[in-house]
Amino acid sequence: MNAGMNNIVDFINVHRDRYVDELKQFLAIPSISALPEHAGDVRRAAEWTADALRAAGMENVRLMDTPGNPIVYGEWLNAPGKPTILFYGHYDVQPVDPLNLWTSPPFEATVRDGELYARGAVDDKGQVFMHIKAIEAHLKQAGSLPCNIRFFIEGEEEVGSVHLDDFVRSHKQELAADVVVISDSPMFDRGIPSICYGLRGLAYFQIDLRGTASDLHSGSFGGAVANPAFVLAQILAGAKDKSGKIKIPGFYDKVRELAPEERAEFAKLPFKENKYRKDLGAPKLFGEKGYTTLERVWGRPTFEVNGLLAGFTGEGAKTVIPAVAMAKVSTRLVPDQDPDEIGNLIEKWLQDTAPNTVEVKLTKMHGGKPWMTSFDNKYVQAAARAIELGFRERPVFNREGGSIPVVSTFSEELGLPTVLFGVGLPDENAHAPNEKLDLSNFHNGVIASAHLYNEIANAGPGA
Ligand code: BES
Ligand code: MN
Ligand code: MN
Repeated sequence: MNAGMNNIVDFINVHRDRYVDELKQFLAIPSISALPEHAGDVRRAAEWTADALRAAGMENVRLMDTPGNPIVYGEWLNAPGKPTILFYGHYDVQPVDPLNLWTSPPFEATVRDGELYARGAVDDKGQVFMHIKAIEAHLKQAGSLPCNIRFFIEGEEEVGSVHLDDFVRSHKQELAADVVVISDSPMFDRGIPSICYGLRGLAYFQIDLRGTASDLHSGSFGGAVANPAFVLAQILAGAKDKSGKIKIPGFYDKVRELAPEERAEFAKLPFKENKYRKDLGAPKLFGEKGYTTLERVWGRPTFEVNGLLAGFTGEGAKTVIPAVAMAKVSTRLVPDQDPDEIGNLIEKWLQDTAPNTVEVKLTKMHGGKPWMTSFDNKYVQAAARAIELGFRERPVFNREGGSIPVVSTFSEELGLPTVLFGVGLPDENAHAPNEKLDLSNFHNGVIASAHLYNEIANAGPGA
């Protein structure tokens, strides 16, 4: 390590506790993008992020308007001839219900056993903040960054980034870069840092069924009309067979089969299936026949019911035939599936399988394409070296089952490779009660991020 990097790492070590105090303030803002009543908080989180970027020494920091929540932009472009990083993350968070399952309030960040508990701790405020502090350490200690960097932090990731594609298309100049860096994913396991080279895509739907004009007495009318709750259950039950295979015609047509070499690499990872099952509290794991758990989650598509609503669900009993039934369903997609094409297949499948005893409506909600990169890319290798310097552990290469829709947009619209530099843990309860962030991973992550800018600078510009 050169003397400059030593000073920077010293600075990070000295300021460790201050970082946590500042992050707690960020986490206190309930920036829930899904709930309109939090619009003011979402805006406040954007402003907080902008202030943090200014305090770190970033330049030209501003909020950029979209038809939805603002994007926080900031830059430091004083390293001519060096590569430019486009750093992407999000300041919005998921809703917190069920609130009663939180041990400490979701927007009062609390440290217990080296973990910082709060909504947004790992997804994604903590991981965004880690980079802001790495930049601050460079600028305070060295007065400069080894490469150029643009910050691009959005506020609608958790609701599908619906305005982002248009924004990227219309701001290509402001987003010009050599590589995208994102810290918004977990590492393989505690003590096993990783570089993620693939994400699944997503296509999300709502299915509404109507049987009759109003709810009916199930004695007076039961037997004479179809029950939409029952029909919905039949339709959904028909989506998969017993071996976990999705029965929607054409669904697998574009699925790229996992290469034998890749399956062999997955199999080498220290994955403990029984511990995984126990941690999830599942009596037995279930998934598509012929594939291992990691293959199912990283390399195979899914069809899931995310929510169901029909009829009487209160205490006691009520004899009723519900007038309507509703399901939220989504599919996770793998290369080379396309969310729009899958939407059309599902539309056709519904038309063909739903009986004419009910009215069926399909609403297509948000989606995103799957993404995969090759890990011999020089920036991916630079990130691997930075992780090793920050965590004193060589990273493994993994794929993930989650989705970050904008990654494929960066690739298609800006022609940029992406490095997923995530320091979360798979059990940090993202989207669930008691979300948390391991503070030693956060601290090592700040150091690794500081190294990352150096390593990317050394890798030089251009693909
Ligand atoms: N940080 C996650 C994405 C993620 C999760 C990456 C797990 C890798 C592993 C992100 O905030 C997220 O939740 N994405 C949504 C996307 C959706 C709202 C379009 C997802 O995956 O459900
Ligand atoms: Mn996220
Ligand atoms: Mn998320």
